[in-house]
Amino acid sequence: MLDDHLNFFYYIVLFAAYCFAGWVVEVVYRSLTQRKFVNAGFLLGPFIPIYGISAFLVIVLEHFLRDWSVALRLAVFGLVISLLEYTTGYLSEKIFKLKLWDYSEYRFNLHGYVCLRFSLLWTLLATGFVLFVHPEALRREAMLPGGLVQIVAIVFMLYFWIDCTFSVISLAAFRKGVAYLYEEYFNLSSLEIEDILKSFQRLREAFPDLNKYVNQNINRRIRIKVGSFLKPVSEKIFQELDGRKPFETEYYETVGDILQHEEFRKLKDYFHHNSSIYRHVHDVAYLSYRISKFLRLDYRSTARGALLHDFFLYDWRHHDVPDLPREKFHGLEHPKIAVANARKYFSLNDIEEDIIRKHMWPLTLVPPKYKESYIVSFADKYLSSREFISEYKKRIEARRSKIPRRKDSSAPRS
Ligand SMILES: [Fe+2]
Ligand SMILES: [Fe+2]
Repeated sequence: MLDDHLNFFYYIVLFAAYCFAGWVVEVVYRSLTQRKFVNAGFLLGPFIPIYGISAFLVIVLEHFLRDWSVALRLAVFGLVISLLEYTTGYLSEKIFKLKLWDYSEYRFNLHGYVCLRFSLLWTLLATGFVLFVHPEALRREAMLPGGLVQIVAIVFMLYFWIDCTFSVISLAAFRKGVAYLYEEYFNLSSLEIEDILKSFQRLREAFPDLNKYVNQNINRRIRIKVGSFLKPVSEKIFQELDGRKPFETEYYETVGDILQHEEFRKLKDYFHHNSSIYRHVHDVAYLSYRISKFLRLDYRSTARGALLHDFFLYDWRHHDVPDLPREKFHGLEHPKIAVANARKYFSLNDIEEDIIRKHMWPLTLVPPKYKESYIVSFADKYLSSREFISEYKKRIEARRSKIPRRKDSSAPRS
């Protein structure tokens, strides 16, 4: 495993090769899951050091433990790699106040830094690597001329040092940017927030869990602030609405063309929360329209934007169309899809487009531009939580009465 005839430079070149191989593995994995090319890892260049370090740990372990049984060696590989992953995750959070990856949604995880599924995967990869890849790589590399290896190793070390320095600076700047965003979120304009987020686009794409971590932190602050402001206002609005007559005729005149549109009516076929998307957007649009009218805002744009806010024609929980987002990506992606669909069949003004694009705020961090968009975002959350609760109650009830209930077919269709 360790060859006494090879000097230090050969091992540096091997380290570079394994960091590069790790980068390829991560790029393929991340690009497939995010459906676009993602430059994975913390360095700017095509190297991920944790793979090189893990490879050398495994090589050294194999060198000293080669007389042990395969099962024992596997267990040691798994433990050591998991310990390295845990330490790296823990230290990056302590030093940079950022969680670069988060396994807390996986079963059998430890503080979100490691989890059984990935530890088993690393163990398998390490075993395959140490038994098949490394001996072959060593044999081939030994055939290379020493002078060439020395040059490549020196160039790599220089490059690696520069890249590490820049990447640490950029991570520290990211940390500073995020801290600024946490503090100043309510004083910044949408454009400024967008600029800050865009300046760290690469890191946010390379570590999607980091994005989630930042989102959760900002969302917590937004919720506290908005919650304390919204509670008395929302109570007043609902009191007023209860005492008023509905404006059905005007509402239907405003949105009639959308409701009648053949493509839009397809929303009746897709289950959402407790009924169909069609039913959900209709309810959100009507509530938003009335709040907007009560507040003397642009209630026509509010109604139309709200009606189109979830104009996506797929079931986000289970579908087999590779280009469509699913589950955790759906939350961020579907507003863009809804805007594209709405533009295709209807003309949108600025307010309507902002309503659709920002209705998931604060999940999508850039805040809405117009008061009407805040109203729709609020109405959507308010009604969605009611729909979820009613569906949850229905399911509990069905389970209690032990009536077999087919998955989605019992959902009411409007
Ligand atoms: Fe939505
Ligand atoms: Fe919605």
